[in-house]
Amino acid sequence: MAAANWKMNLTLQQGEQLLTDILLKTNELKAHQQAVFAVPFPYLSMAVNKLAGKNNFFVAAQNCSNKKSGAYTGEVSVEILQSVGIEYVVLGHSERREYFNESNQLLAEKLDICLANNMKPIFCCGEPLAIREANTQNEFVAKQLAESLYHLSAAQLQEIVIAYEPIWAIGTGKTATSAQAQEIHAFIRTELANKYGTAIADTISILYGGSVKASNAVELFSQPDVDGGLVGGASLIVDEFVAIINALP
Ligand code: PGA
Repeated sequence: MAAANWKMNLTLQQGEQLLTDILLKTNELKAHQQAVFAVPFPYLSMAVNKLAGKNNFFVAAQNCSNKKSGAYTGEVSVEILQSVGIEYVVLGHSERREYFNESNQLLAEKLDICLANNMKPIFCCGEPLAIREANTQNEFVAKQLAESLYHLSAAQLQEIVIAYEPIWAIGTGKTATSAQAQEIHAFIRTELANKYGTAIADTISILYGGSVKASNAVELFSQPDVDGGLVGGASLIVDEFVAIINALP
């Protein structure tokens, strides 16, 4: 999976043009390949319409509420997203965790409401620089997984895509090396295997995020436990994102 995370960028018109240009330049995706566009809420319908009938192209929201419905001004529920045709939602992006105080516990609730309603979460995890420098990233990520995911059944876990995004690599131009990415992706898969068994863990897609670009995507995606990417900055540039889609294993 190549997932574009537009974050709070582009106008509606710019977003529509970007999708038009990407579609023009992208070949048919293979059966196992997926391109996902996580766009700002007001552009969801535009993107759904634009990608209608395109095999393996999907639209994602960048967040959703942990509440079903009601008096939560400014929030967007899973039901609202589904009513405009959305199948994926990014949860627990480090920017949500940092600027909007999203905790592992809150994310567990968001995962529950998604999974109860057939909304597929792209669940983000990953450590800040200080943790990486202290070489305690495995413990940090293991805690994120345990506190947000491990109450789920194996069947529920299989509905989730995991995105490992080291915070020090997001938007910094500083990519984890492919060896660093592989090492922690393998660790994540082993953790999942310890909890849910190898057969289940092997089916989970684990994306890498953090300064993925055309020039490093092939190398990153060639790692055995890197199943694709969650892409911010480079997803806003047509040729970059098309090359990243084409680099999918
Ligand atoms: P970046 O962002 O590709 O700009 O580093 C990735 C992300 O935050 O999802």
